[in-house]
Amino acid sequence: MAAASALRLAPGFAALASHGPWTAKSRPGRLSYRAFRTVTREGPWTPRAVEGEIPRDLCGTLYRNGPGQKETFDVPLGHLFDGDAYLTALRFAEGRLSGLSRFVMTPERKHELASGRMRYHEFGTRCPGRALGFKNPPNINVFPMADGHFALSEGAPPVLIDPDTLECLGARDFAGSWPARTTFTAHPKRDPATGDVFAYGMTMTLFPELVLGRLAAGESAFAIFARAPLGGVYPVHDFMITQSYVVVALPPVYISMWGLLRGRCLAESIVAEPHKPLRILVARKDGTKPPVTIESHPANMIFHHCNAVESEDGRTIRLISIETEAVAGFRALEGWGRATTLAHPKSQMTEFVIDVEAKTVARTALTEGAPIEFPAIDQRGLGRRMDAIYALRTFDAPDDPLAFDTITRWDGAGFRESRARRGQVFGEPVVVPDAAGGAWIAHLGYEADRDETFLDIRDPDDLRLVARAWFGFRMPLGFHGHYVPDVG
Ligand SMILES: [Fe+2]
Repeated sequence: MAAASALRLAPGFAALASHGPWTAKSRPGRLSYRAFRTVTREGPWTPRAVEGEIPRDLCGTLYRNGPGQKETFDVPLGHLFDGDAYLTALRFAEGRLSGLSRFVMTPERKHELASGRMRYHEFGTRCPGRALGFKNPPNINVFPMADGHFALSEGAPPVLIDPDTLECLGARDFAGSWPARTTFTAHPKRDPATGDVFAYGMTMTLFPELVLGRLAAGESAFAIFARAPLGGVYPVHDFMITQSYVVVALPPVYISMWGLLRGRCLAESIVAEPHKPLRILVARKDGTKPPVTIESHPANMIFHHCNAVESEDGRTIRLISIETEAVAGFRALEGWGRATTLAHPKSQMTEFVIDVEAKTVARTALTEGAPIEFPAIDQRGLGRRMDAIYALRTFDAPDDPLAFDTITRWDGAGFRESRARRGQVFGEPVVVPDAAGGAWIAHLGYEADRDETFLDIRDPDDLRLVARAWFGFRMPLGFHGHYVPDVG
């Protein structure tokens, strides 16, 4: 992977005036909502202040992605997933941090800005009046593959971006290799041993299929190595790889095409199948055998997996994932931006031991109580070693399950935690390797009193805070991203 070169800095901040009359301060809400409100700035920036010392061996760029607005002109966007993609590149060099942030200028965003009003349905908010269709902003993740950086939406093709300027270069289908009318995961996986990238999609056809593809290291086209009929469109959000397998968990909810045809947005078209089991599909990466499906109860939504490793003989897979009550989870996401009371959906970190030959699953709960989400590992151990797992938890925020106030580290035996101060909420941790062979934990955070975003650098073992950079403005905490170390 080529290193990102130095960010090209245009002069000064650009103040955003694209979403008036709704301003970021005009809509109060729960703490996590405030941490996701509309951005206030685009352009290059440097931190207002740095506490502690940013490690000098940290040389590279951390890319983050998430929805950048919570209103489109006069329409409030209430769902966590709503809003155009807003990218940030955080560049570390010689103990200093600089940033570049901007919206991904998709054709739909350009169209709405030119129109001066909402024209598309968002994930959870309908466009008032006649909609031109569904918007799938690439606001979930940003991932390097096929010699490019891609902003990812899950429901639409990957969008190529310039890693230096964050300019939107348009959707791509990898030289025509990704099947037409097929979604593309927002969580591709790179096998650390081979450099191959794995991805899944769902064909949006009358008889939907799960499609699994491999982008061999150094190649620009995917090879599709497995297809499996699904019987419906299931909102699979993540998957996992091991040395030999790809593992996909199908949730007990599906997306009603009938609902979408009737003009409902995606969030309104999710239908529960409460009596169905969790279906775990296991496919061989070499495509030599058809995928097998293994059923397990209870059926929960798995938004994110942590890691998976297979036994030496390849017979069993140890998979660790974050389970969340499906119906309550989607309800919380939908009601999150509104004043309604939010129940905490039950969630836990679970260890699944999958016997691929016997087609059985044993499960063990690793956490209980406080909500847990946004797991992270050192990607150098993905699918190969069960190293430490990091995640966020919410211990002290009734009515706000997404106000993550704790970062936690699980080492296979126990948990170590670091709590946020009251009024702060943490964003997804990322393990960032340094030039000395070590690694750090980096995550965004939001401080309500100052209405300001910050970046924490933490010790990977004891979670001790090593440095905190205050941005001087607020940007949404967002969802996911990746780190690209400098080379040479
Ligand atoms: Fe995700």
